[in-house]
Amino acid sequence: MSSFRIAVFASGSGSNFQAIIDHIQEKKLDLSIELLVCDKPGAKVIERAEIANIPVFAFRPKEYVSREAYEQEIVKELQKKQIDLIVLAGYMRLVTDTLVKPYYGKMINIHPSLLPSFPGLDAIGQAYEYGVKVTGVTVHFVDNGMDTGPIINQESVIIEESDTLEQLENNIHKVEHRIYSEVIDWIAEGRVQLQDRKVNVLPQKVN
Ligand code: GAR
Repeated sequence: MSSFRIAVFASGSGSNFQAIIDHIQEKKLDLSIELLVCDKPGAKVIERAEIANIPVFAFRPKEYVSREAYEQEIVKELQKKQIDLIVLAGYMRLVTDTLVKPYYGKMINIHPSLLPSFPGLDAIGQAYEYGVKVTGVTVHFVDNGMDTGPIINQESVIIEESDTLEQLENNIHKVEHRIYSEVIDWIAEGRVQLQDRKVNVLPQKVN
């Protein structure tokens, strides 16, 4: 059993999920993805989990009386699998206290803009339409706001005048696929400290 156990939540294509799977395999890290939680039973991310032999908890939110009700089910699954870190990777739903309270400081999200600019849906399109010259990627702890939690890491992406929206999306995704795994490694190594809104990343130990 790996010593650091991850659950990924995703709603769509799952390219970030795949990048994390590939990273763990390539680096032979002592981490494992123990569960995929997906709110869209037909999503491509589920195929990716099946190929990688990762258990899936898929659910239809409409079949539950409330958000709290399905989140309680999810918490049960997380506890059964003794999850250390929840990684939201394109999970397009707000989470409530049912999840945030037991997992505050142990749940992270990736967002395709330099927060607090362009929170919410279609952040890449929002930045492109607005005409900013610099956008980027943010990885943050999750609270119960929309993309509002304490920031762990950010990386900027320049928007060239010649960039199409599609080119910008590709550039952002490349950065996402690299930095999300880096942050997961930092947390697994115990190097990320959270104090109120400030996050400190301790230097890597040299053997
Ligand atoms: C990613 O770009 C991620 O940053 C974004 O959804 C995409 C999922 O892509 N998340 C948000 O906008 C959260 N507010 P993927 O399914 O290919 O990983």
